[in-house]
Amino acid sequence: MTSLNQQGRSKEELLAALTTKRARDARWQDGRTFGMVYDGGPEVHAVAEAVAKMYLHENALNTIAFPSLGEIQSEVCSWTAALFHGETAAGFMTSGGTESILCAVKAARERAKAERGITAPEIVLAETAHAAFHKAAYYFGFQVHKVKVRDDFRADVEAMADCVNANTALVVGSAPQYPQGVIDPIPDLAQLALSVGASMHVDACMGGFVLPFMEQLGFDVLPWDFRVEGVTTISADIHKLGYAPKGASVILHANKQLRQYQTFMFDQWLGGFYASPNIQGTRSGLPMACAWAVMQHLGIEGYQRLTKLTIDTRATMVAGVRAIDGLMVLGEPEAQLVAIATRPHSDLDVFAVGDALNRRGGWFHDRQTPPDTLHATVSAGNAPVIDLYLEDLAASVAEVQGLRAENRSTSYATLE
Ligand SMILES: Cc1ncc(COP(=O)(O)O)c(C=O)c1O
Repeated sequence: MTSLNQQGRSKEELLAALTTKRARDARWQDGRTFGMVYDGGPEVHAVAEAVAKMYLHENALNTIAFPSLGEIQSEVCSWTAALFHGETAAGFMTSGGTESILCAVKAARERAKAERGITAPEIVLAETAHAAFHKAAYYFGFQVHKVKVRDDFRADVEAMADCVNANTALVVGSAPQYPQGVIDPIPDLAQLALSVGASMHVDACMGGFVLPFMEQLGFDVLPWDFRVEGVTTISADIHKLGYAPKGASVILHANKQLRQYQTFMFDQWLGGFYASPNIQGTRSGLPMACAWAVMQHLGIEGYQRLTKLTIDTRATMVAGVRAIDGLMVLGEPEAQLVAIATRPHSDLDVFAVGDALNRRGGWFHDRQTPPDTLHATVSAGNAPVIDLYLEDLAASVAEVQGLRAENRSTSYATLE
């Protein structure tokens, strides 16, 4: 156990201490991290840093005290709704994908109870749906039907249909799903939800700020947004490929009437009438204002430029990986996500390859299993170094032939 220092320490001393602490952190600044931090470039940083300083201390708990944050939230939601073709859509900003998903699941439960009298709600999802849905199901008391995906890693609509019943409150699809980066058959899943009057959530936490711009650029994109009949909620993270600093996501409902199932109000408190749109109470204005500013700084043209760079870089990565003997890419990635595995019967351990890449050039991939894969969320910041990456990947593969990594953990975090 350590205790807080008795005497205060100077700013200089603290900055030096943090610089030392950070030395082992992932090197996102030079494009060597495939996930977690998405780099929109120096101008985007300058905008976000200036706005962060301005809004460092503001509290969005009370948007009557801070009306600018109320306006920021409604403008960000409105721009996002327009991108997703949700003419009547309405929503809120949240702290991230997980909170947006928690809000969608909670709203589905309230709706199912109010409109269909469901008291034992069930959720039907593919095994590729993000872990946050399981967290939400646990928090909000849902029974989960987790269904195997097809060979192409998309949700298996027929198998999911077998799990839909009178207690189904929510059907989930992803655009794209995180593990292999493919888009689920959203129109078929939405029909499934409609068939019992359930809600349909599209998890576009990863794709929300990529797919609209891909479509504008002329790529074929499977239908996933509010143009699909039956979609009731969509989550999209501005702090991912929206290139804003962490702590910014949007949860949108198809209309204001559905949105009311998300909010919480309490008027029996001596502290006054309490209304809260999402999970947090006090919430920092900083990420909200930064997201507002970054979105406008980039504009549609900026996002199209970053999306083109991202998709070209992903294509280079996929082709480069497939050209290396012993490696393969799972499925056909449709946007920015790639899963790298070893070919069946090869003498290669993909985790050993990942470790060698990290030693060789500080490259960072998340690991996932089953099957054992290195995961990449490609973004514009990786573009300048993708050729260097592929060189290091080939060298790492040669280095670890026949070797196996001792550490097999795919853990995201320690719980300490
Ligand atoms: C598809 C998808 N949904 C939800 C999330 C959760 O987002 P967050 O980590 O911002 O809570 C992620 C995170 O990677 C994701 O990839």
